[in-house]
Amino acid sequence: MHRDLQDERVGVLFVCLGNICRSPMAEAVFQRMVEQRNLEDYIICDSAGTGDYHIGSLPHPGTLRILEIAGIRTSHRARQISLTDFTAFHHILVMDRDNLRDTLMLANGPADVQLIMNYGTVLTGSDVPDPYFDGRFDTVYEMVSDACAGFLDRLELQIRATETVNEPANGCSRT
Ligand code: 4NP
Repeated sequence: MHRDLQDERVGVLFVCLGNICRSPMAEAVFQRMVEQRNLEDYIICDSAGTGDYHIGSLPHPGTLRILEIAGIRTSHRARQISLTDFTAFHHILVMDRDNLRDTLMLANGPADVQLIMNYGTVLTGSDVPDPYFDGRFDTVYEMVSDACAGFLDRLELQIRATETVNEPANGCSRT
């Protein structure tokens, strides 16, 4: 989903190499969690690749199949990460250490760039293996689901805390 600079929502960008396997899966899984928690007015997400091989392509059939089994739809088309992403998004979550190196080499803005599995509860800090080469889309789904939930737990706490400060429960503001 495109995010423009006027958008006040928290922007989360998922990044892998080709933007057809791991990051569009993470984006779709995260988007569904955002909807399940009624946080669409607060959070917007997208995905991109460090490479340009698959620009404009739909996700890999293996990713589409796993998402279909989970009842999740996506209309994402692959795109390459751009310099404006480092300003447009607050958080950039990458799948592996190669993505981390390539993304940090480009970084020219305030976005916080981290391995997605820093938010995993099981395989904390590990790389998400590339299913383009080993076909283990099920492993990717389990890993990104775990990390997306962990990341969203933290983001939701921050958002709810800010909401309490900005919007008093009785709807009155002091003048
Ligand atoms: P992804 O997987 O980075 O998870 O989208 C890959 C997709 C394509 C290629 C490599 C990895 N490729 O070399 O074309």
